Amino acid sequence: MAGAGKLRLGVNIDHVATVRNARGSAYPDPVRAAKLAEEAGADGITAHLREDRRHISDADIEALAEELTVPLNFEMAATEEMQNIALRHVPHAVCIVPEKREERTTEGGLEVAQDENRLAHFIAPLRDAGCRVSIFIAADRRQIEAAHRIGAAVIELHTGAYCDLHAEGRIKERDAELERLREMSAFAHSLGLEVHAGHGLTYDTVAPIAAFPEIRELNIGHFLIGEAIFRGLGPAIAEMRRIMDAARA
Ligand code: PXP
Repeated sequence: MAGAGKLRLGVNIDHVATVRNARGSAYPDPVRAAKLAEEAGADGITAHLREDRRHISDADIEALAEELTVPLNFEMAATEEMQNIALRHVPHAVCIVPEKREERTTEGGLEVAQDENRLAHFIAPLRDAGCRVSIFIAADRRQIEAAHRIGAAVIELHTGAYCDLHAEGRIKERDAELERLREMSAFAHSLGLEVHAGHGLTYDTVAPIAAFPEIRELNIGHFLIGEAIFRGLGPAIAEMRRIMDAARA
């Protein structure tokens, strides 16, 4: 797309840790996966330290913060515990996500509009410490405006609904969701926010999102780690990169 900047790929390595933790072993090591992802063309590494530590551990975050040469995007809930961890490591970026113990993954975006004061106070020290603060939200004008008001530098748009509709073959609804994502990317960009997107993206769903000129970064995990079983992690990432770059061209 003319004028569109480079589209960054953040690789989420949470599910390498999920496999490790299934057996309580020391392998596979998510830090090794992160380094391989770097070599394969990832522009950043994303990891979500959940309250229940179901995948990524505190030691993983410590090792990632020390050993990565690309930026670390630390996904976290808006809790005091996570804020303290982020302030200890000062990762390049923090992405604030909603978190419920009973969910399998991050199922919806953050409700910023109804929690504006608390979130504004919550992100201020992170921003002051030098982290780029991103807020994970649905493609909803009210939430984007609220994210802007609280002083976030970045929003990440939740692409899960679009990907689910695609998988279910609900093409008209999928296209309506895609249109909503397109409009809201442009709206957020017009407010001066940097726009990222992610959740549920695959080789089949990534191209239309990658083509939005306002989007600067995609964060992709579950599909890539699954695909790595068949192709290896490096080739799985390289193919995602190829599709993203072709969509952008
Ligand atoms: N972005 C955010 C904010 C997320 O919470 C997740 C899932 O941890 C992702 C991107 C990546 O989603 P997926 O693993 O489905 O590619």
